[in-house]
Amino acid sequence: MQDFIFQNSTKIIFGKQKEQLVGQEAVVYGKKLLLHYGGGRIKQSGLYDTVVKSLQDQGIEIIELGGVQPNPRVSLVREGVALCKEHDINFILAIGGGSVIDSAKAIAAGTKYDGDVWDFFTGKAAISECLPIGVVLTIPAAGSESSSGTVITNEDGWYKKSSGHNTMRPQFAILNPELSYTLPAYQTACGITDMMAHILERYFTNEKNVDLTDRLCEAALRAIIHNAHTVLEEPTNYDARAEIMWSGTIAHNDLLGTGRIGDWGSHDIEHEISGIYDIAHGAGLAIIFPAWMKYVYKHDVNRFVQFANRVWNIEIDMNNLEKTALAGIKKTEEFFKSIGMPITLKEAEIGEEHLEEMAKKATENGPLGNFIKLYETDVYQIYRLAK
Ligand code: NZQ
Ligand code: ZN
Repeated sequence: MQDFIFQNSTKIIFGKQKEQLVGQEAVVYGKKLLLHYGGGRIKQSGLYDTVVKSLQDQGIEIIELGGVQPNPRVSLVREGVALCKEHDINFILAIGGGSVIDSAKAIAAGTKYDGDVWDFFTGKAAISECLPIGVVLTIPAAGSESSSGTVITNEDGWYKKSSGHNTMRPQFAILNPELSYTLPAYQTACGITDMMAHILERYFTNEKNVDLTDRLCEAALRAIIHNAHTVLEEPTNYDARAEIMWSGTIAHNDLLGTGRIGDWGSHDIEHEISGIYDIAHGAGLAIIFPAWMKYVYKHDVNRFVQFANRVWNIEIDMNNLEKTALAGIKKTEEFFKSIGMPITLKEAEIGEEHLEEMAKKATENGPLGNFIKLYETDVYQIYRLAK
């Protein structure tokens, strides 16, 4: 096991109607708040009114910035930074999912910086300070509600890049599973795929003697798999929605990665796809993760056998370990398909025209991944395996 420091200070407030508490949580950080959200959905559902009332009850002044798109854009982040500086904002509240939260995080970092916020994504500048942010989560997926990272798309060249810092973790995140009832099946499935991918990125490591975190990862994957079809078939099943919502946070709050070095190649390979084609990140992962697995499994067949056996209950064939490993990959792929995800580029209506360009862009700052290092030609081969 690697040495590690684990510090995740995001306060999680979980349960029915807990969004009503947002005012009393936010007021601790000051009385001038930027309210950040996506489309008009939260106004129709009544969530917006509930949050605004709770904030106003605490005497908080609200400046609003809606309009965050999935795969959030740096242009809106720049608008947010300008608003925060102009109004001397003390706190940012994100209502939504990974896209809104990531946009809020980037604004939080950009407000404390004199240069252009995109510098944090090119490596030109490092984040050292952020405005505090809070979250009312409406979709369990990205895990951004307690992660230290943000992923932003620059329309100028369609670069989708990540950045992060420990001070970027939200101060609090309100998780009411009822708020996820309105999610369409496709979005629910994208979220499920993303959280599974966050666990798999950590699971496929070269680190030995990480039994506890191996088993925590396997337990979380099994819980997600167990509840996935229930939330799709019964969108208002509180218990199943609650399991999925908490799993999404646990998958990406860094606990499951303690003492081990995760891979993250599949995420970088996927970001090129959602950057260029603007598809949901989870859908891109359902396509890329199985292809990545097929490309790398020979590097550590035993780990893939363990995954097949402990996560998918596949009996180990001692005479043919490779067969067992491949059966686990096949099960993963079949599961993504069963919840309505595309598992090939073709199914997502993505042709071959940008594959070389995406492989080049993905590796322009060096090879990807840690399980094995992936160079431009490897990434290209993975895209081809995903055809
Ligand atoms: O934007 P709104 O109006 O909220 O609508 C969203 C959006 O259209 C909608 N939605 C959210 N909650 C809903 C709902 N619709 C009906 N009922 C509800 N309760 O769903 C759509 C997708 O929302 P989005 O925020 O884009 O989804 P998600 O949470 O999957 O976030 C994806 C983004 O997070 C990044 C991804 O790359 C992608 O850009 N990631 C961020 C990470 C991080 N910061 O730690 C890690 C992840 O690996 C990921 O890369
Ligand atoms: Zn992800």
